[in-house]
This record gives sequence, C-alpha cells and structure tokens, in this order.
Amino acid sequence: MKILTVVGARPNFMKAAPILAAINEHNEKLAADSADQPARRRETIRHMLVHTGQHYDEFMSGSFFSDLNLPKPDIHLGIGSGSHAVQTAEIMKKFEQVLLTEEPDVVVLVGDVNSTLACALVASKISFDSIGSRPAIVHVEAGLRSFDRSMPEEINRILTDHVSDALFVTEESGNRNLLNEGVSLDKIHFVGNTMIDSLIKFRERAERSDILEKLGLLRQEGKNGESNSIIRYALLTLHRPSNVDNCYIFQNILEGLKELATEYPVVFPAHPRTQQRIKEFGFEFGPGAAERKHEKNERGSRNGCNGIILTDPLGYLDFLCLMKHATIVVTDSGGIQEETTFLRIPCVTVRDNTERPATVESGTNIIAGTTKEKVEAAIRRQMASEGSNKMPKKWDGQAATRIIDVLVSAYCGRAASRQSAICSSSGEAVSPSSRGSSGCAPSVLRL
Ligand code: UD1
Repeated sequence: MKILTVVGARPNFMKAAPILAAINEHNEKLAADSADQPARRRETIRHMLVHTGQHYDEFMSGSFFSDLNLPKPDIHLGIGSGSHAVQTAEIMKKFEQVLLTEEPDVVVLVGDVNSTLACALVASKISFDSIGSRPAIVHVEAGLRSFDRSMPEEINRILTDHVSDALFVTEESGNRNLLNEGVSLDKIHFVGNTMIDSLIKFRERAERSDILEKLGLLRQEGKNGESNSIIRYALLTLHRPSNVDNCYIFQNILEGLKELATEYPVVFPAHPRTQQRIKEFGFEFGPGAAERKHEKNERGSRNGCNGIILTDPLGYLDFLCLMKHATIVVTDSGGIQEETTFLRIPCVTVRDNTERPATVESGTNIIAGTTKEKVEAAIRRQMASEGSNKMPKKWDGQAATRIIDVLVSAYCGRAASRQSAICSSSGEAVSPSSRGSSGCAPSVLRL
C-alpha cells in the first residue's frame, strides 16, 4: 500500500507526525514478525510526505520538522502566501501532477487549512486509469464544526469531510456532526487525537527547552540562588484574521487582558500576520509601553501594555514547555484549546464559538467572545477556578496507531485489486499510469 500524507501549515505538522511514526512502527513490526500476520497485514506501507509550502519560513514550518522528528518532505510544492483562491488553486495545480506521477492508494489529509481542502478536491476528481481509479481520501480530525461559515476553516472542514472516504474523528461531537450531515456510519472512525499523540510523546523533551530562562520566567531560590522556580505567567496567542485584522476588535481583546498583565507577565508569541497588524496599528508592548501610548503614530494613539512580552512565533517544543507551565492561556487557536485541555491548564478562547466542544465540556476552556468585558470576566473566572480532571475519550496517545490499523484493514491489497479490475474491464487499453506488479500484461487487455 502506498500512502501519501500532505502537510502545509503549522497546525498540520504535529497532527501528521504521529501518523508517520505509526507507519514506521507498522513496517518495523512486519520486518520482525511477518510470519505471524495475516496475508493482507503483511504488506509493507510505502510512504511519501508532501509539503505544500503554505507555511514556509523557519518559525512557521522549518523548526517543526526538527522538533517533531519529521523527515524532509519527499516533495515540496513551494506555494507560499496568497489569497485563499490563489493559494488553493496553486496547490491544486501542483498536487494534481504529484498524484498523477505517484498514484498513491491512499491520501492522508489532516486538519482544516487551505492545503487540506485543495488536496482533497484534487484527489476526489483524479483518475489514474481507464476505470477511473483514484486514491482513497482519508481525513484526520474530521467532523469538527463551529457552525460558523464565515470561518474559512469551517468551509475547508465541511468540504473535505464530504469528499473523503474515511473520516477519523477526534471527539464525540465529530461523530454526531457527520451523522447529522448524512455521512454513512461505515466511513466514520472515532480514534482520538493525533495532536495529543504528539503532545504525549514530546512533553518530556519539551521540559528540556530553555525558553523559560530566555524569557526571564525563572526565579532563583535558595540561600545562594542555587535552585530555580517558575514564576506565574500567562500565555497569549492571536492570529485569526477576524480578531487581528480589525483594529477595534484587536484593541478590545488587549484591553481585556490589561488587568491580567498588571499582575503577571503575559507571553505573546505572535504569528506573522499578527506582527504585521501590531506594526500597522501602532500597538506597543513591554516595559514603558503604557507610558508611551500617548505618543501618537499616524493612525492615532493606540493601546499600550507594559506586562505583555511580545516574541516571534515559537517552535513546537518551546511552545509546549510554555503552555505546560502557564497559569492561564488566552488564545484564538483551535489546537491550543485541545492541548490545554490535555494539560489541564485553564484556557480562555477569544472567539464566539468553538468547533471543539469537548474542551469546554472537560471544564478547562471558556468561550469568551472578544469584547473587553467578556475577556476580562472569563480570565477572572479561570483564575479562580479549581481546575478539572475530565479528559475527552481516547486522548491517550494511540490515535495514529488506530488510524493505521484501520487503513491496513481497509486498503492493503488495493493496488492488486485495482489491477485485476482493469484486467477484467471490457477490453479497454491500460493507461501507462496503471502499470503495476499484478501480473496482468497489456497484451491480455488488447484482446
Ligand atoms: C493558516 C490556517 C489557519 C491556521 C493557521 C496557523 C487556512 C485557511 N488557515 O492561517 O487555520 O490556524 O494557518 O498558523 O489555511 N506567513 C509568514 N510565514 C509563513 C506563513 C505565513 O510570514 O511561513 C504570513 C504571510 O504574510 C501570510 C500570513 O502569514 O500572508 C498568513 O498565512 P496563511 O497561510 O495565509 O494563513 P494563516 O493566517 O497562517
């Protein structure tokens, strides 16, 4: 079986890494004890990693490959930034060529970014041969719904799910949503969350990060300052266009954080889009920022906040370390809502909805909205909360293994059966792309 996995943007890497690891594990087990396995499970998985290049710089992509032990992509499409239409269309054009050349049996797509949808559309319409063979489309993190179609990710999620052949679901709401939309039960597999697989695998390594020291979040203790303790701090991320592209909304969220920032340092690793807006809107952070706020820039005086420490986007291990030790996390990210649930860190989500209700049901996450008053109130509630011990089902580090088990049962032997289907089809010539090892010679087909 040949599997091709696509990654493109930052939140894809930690979701795909465990799948690659589970494929390696499958192949290693086969090499060790192939005689004990039933015939179809004895098939080695050949794997290719395709990076669309939607995210392309060291901060947003490169560092994640080293942190997560991801191999260098076999194919890099080099797409880069662009409008939604341009990005999606460029990925589609290049990915079609990849599929026609590689003819995988299975295409694995993760998450809800533009790369996910673009590749799903291509795979759903491609034809490798005279009988219209195409790869099976597998969507990991299927079924999540915010019910807010103004989010590009919601459109990506719905469309990807509806052209997929196998849907791997992270939380129970995903099962319900897909069934309500008429997806047939036999396509849906509730396996857990591969992003949590990564978190479990890498949390020890993240402890060795020196990010706390770098950001001055360690306090020397003991008579001679011989031991360190971590000071209380908050962690903030904002990148959704609906939050950061609008100066008024962005400023409101920052106002809602001011009270927290007077008590604790708030570490703010900012996405490139957010950094751009901060510059445009003339926001100031760090020591003296509040005092400088009356100095007008060309757009008028803007928010200033002393307690916020602005940094570049961080790598996976540094960010995981920061999340693990934070007193509270304020975010508009989808994935961080889930990671804080697993780590049992109080999270305030500055959005009006979530596609991940399990994080709210588990008691760690509050959906606050984006007004100053609501953000402030949610932060106060979380700072006073007792915490929670509830964990969503199957968030146990085994999601990727479950996925590979399903794929092996469903799709191993697919290449051979495709070849025999072509052989038995009514005298059509085999296309060059459908050559394989099934033993059906083209001369037989020409009869
Ligand atoms: C994308 C995803 C979003 C995800 C987010 C995580 C879609 C629709 N959105 O949004 O779901 O939460 O990634 O980061 O796919 N940029 C860089 N360097 C990079 C990549 C981007 O500087 O490596 C800058 C560019 O100026 C670009 C902007 O960031 O215009 C936005 O990047 P883009 O991929 O269009 O979308 P994100 O906002 O990152």
